Amino acid sequence: MKITGEMRVPGDKSISHRVFMLGALAQGATLVRGALDSLDIQSTVHALRSLGASMEKKDRDWCITGGGLREPEAVIDAGNSGTTARLLSGICAGVAGLTVMTGDSSLIKRPMARVIRPLEGMGASFLARQGRFLPMAIRGGDLRGISFDLEVASAQVKSAILLAGLKAEGITAVTEPSLSRDHTERMLGHFGARIERHGTSVSIHGPQEISAREVSVPGDPSSAAFPAVLAAAVPGSELLLKDICLNPTRTGFIPVLQRMGARIALQNIREDSGESVGDILVTGCGLTGTTIGGDEIPRLIDELPILAVAACFANGTTVIRDASELRVKETDRIGALSRGFASLGAQVEETPGGLVIDGPLSFRAGPVQTFSDHRIAMSFFILSRIAGIEVDLDDTQCAGISFPGFFSLMEECR
Ligand code: S3P
Repeated sequence: MKITGEMRVPGDKSISHRVFMLGALAQGATLVRGALDSLDIQSTVHALRSLGASMEKKDRDWCITGGGLREPEAVIDAGNSGTTARLLSGICAGVAGLTVMTGDSSLIKRPMARVIRPLEGMGASFLARQGRFLPMAIRGGDLRGISFDLEVASAQVKSAILLAGLKAEGITAVTEPSLSRDHTERMLGHFGARIERHGTSVSIHGPQEISAREVSVPGDPSSAAFPAVLAAAVPGSELLLKDICLNPTRTGFIPVLQRMGARIALQNIREDSGESVGDILVTGCGLTGTTIGGDEIPRLIDELPILAVAACFANGTTVIRDASELRVKETDRIGALSRGFASLGAQVEETPGGLVIDGPLSFRAGPVQTFSDHRIAMSFFILSRIAGIEVDLDDTQCAGISFPGFFSLMEECR
């Protein structure tokens, strides 16, 4: 069923986490407009409050007063949020005393060694379940700079190291195999930090103080990707997505959809709070298959589930490769997608690092197990709208992790 009109999606999740964290670290009062108010962001807000930051909400704006964070009295629960757990590990590594952190049944299965290793190299100590999972205890303080090469491009790990680097003696440098989202670097610059970037390396000289700023959070491109794929795949659709973050480390799904034949135009592009922002106009037409892999993966990692749905309706073969990181997200997203498609009567090929989809596939109504993963739930809802079938999702609440109001917004735009 086609989609037309104008739509605003909630604030960007990655930027929202970071603005609360930097606001908590900065001297002075940070004013935030347009932040996402979702379950993941609530996990970050609760955690920072227990570290001593003041966070007040007035209508839709937030005022954060930070500065001296201190050892929390209670266990921090990061809920479902990998970004909370990993970035906060970097912050807690710089706070003298003990922090104990846990998460929900999904988060306690996700790898934490990727942050433990570099932060231990900087002088923090960790005691983690099986050495690599939550719950874990962090003893922070007295950090020194490190030069660290990431094996896999990860904005969460890079950010954890940089946030610890802010409090460490000397130079902290991180190099990635390819560039992941760079909101932490941009926002540190916006908050007055001296930070240097060369290609896929970034360095910061610590210790440094940062100063409070005003920040407007743009719409989340990862949320916009769901209605964008619906519009792209259904001829006759015309959808204008307003005020979306167009940071190139986040918009890899746009050139992929264009390669598949989608008609997408970017309009009204401007800079705000250190980020590029604009509108995305999507006009529906037929799609064809493509290959998605290599360096573009970090720029669209969270959009792969919905791009896989687009591939199901495209003519020809789509290959998604080099994306084994998808197996350690909120759930194993490669497995969840292929099982979901199978449960609706369509077969795709699962590979260790992706999927091979021979489109167009035909689907019948049926149940889909979401594994309580927000992006799996929303992807199959969009599939149901494109295919015009009933899909019975076992969990719809989980959409509130990143996109509160998703289902009602999609109903409004019928
Ligand atoms: C995020 C980084 C990515 C992404 C996640 C949000 C961030 O994770 O998948 O949804 O805000 O830094 P990785 O750093 O594990 O790639």
